[in-house]
Amino acid sequence: MTDAPSSTSLDVQNQQFFDKWAQDYDQKRISGWFQHTQRLTIGQMEGLTSASKVLDVGCGTGFAVLRLGSVLTEGKACGLDISEQMIAQANAKIGDDLRDRVEFVQAGSDNIPYPDGEFDFVMCTNSFHHYPDPIKSLIEMKRVLRPGAQIVIMDNAVDLSLYTWMWDRILRVVEKGHVRYYRSPEIGEMLNKAGFEQARLPHLKNEFMKHGKLFASLMIWSGRRPASDQ
Ligand SMILES: C[S@@+](CC[C@H](N)C(=O)[O-])C[C@H]1O[C@@H](n2cnc3c(N)ncnc32)[C@H](O)[C@@H]1O
Repeated sequence: MTDAPSSTSLDVQNQQFFDKWAQDYDQKRISGWFQHTQRLTIGQMEGLTSASKVLDVGCGTGFAVLRLGSVLTEGKACGLDISEQMIAQANAKIGDDLRDRVEFVQAGSDNIPYPDGEFDFVMCTNSFHHYPDPIKSLIEMKRVLRPGAQIVIMDNAVDLSLYTWMWDRILRVVEKGHVRYYRSPEIGEMLNKAGFEQARLPHLKNEFMKHGKLFASLMIWSGRRPASDQ
């Protein structure tokens, strides 16, 4: 890991919002839903082996990273998050058995403190809609992937239901850290714009009354850093 430079997205108000949320993030009814979506997203990683290196961008309190850490016995699971308190909660959960292969770092999605080509997979769940500069963030995620490696992004799709469309409008007003949810094709367009290839949408589904969530319009996008990239 390199020194963490300051991120343009480390907006103080945003950070405070997520720091507050971190205090009871794992206790909230919705946490079951977040865990479900993280499991689904990990399930979309193609060719994950015990030696893979994975980065979770916007990792929250670290559920996915710790889960990955337990299977990546010869690899590495890293999480980064803008919130100091989310990272503190995640760090507190690293057991002695995982300490050599799990790492959490406070940083913004648009300024990732890892070298080029470091990871075999980058994942991002329930977090992309918080990013003020999504293309810059995607370009950073691509940079830290090795050429040919896979990104998997999960978020809510506004084109799948009126409910999610309305929810997005409400969150834009009431939730500090919310930038916007996207229409499902928009994520594919952004992946292309950021220089990924093989963009595809393996999961697009409305979910009702699942894992503590009333309703959600779930999308999971996959893409690859071009193998020809240097
Ligand atoms: C709803 S939580 C999702 C956490 C976890 N990925 C999950 O699925 O449960 C969103 C997370 O994104 C983080 N976040 C928001 N903006 C960010 C940014 N620009 N860079 C990195 N993390 C960010 C927040 O601090 C928060 O922990």
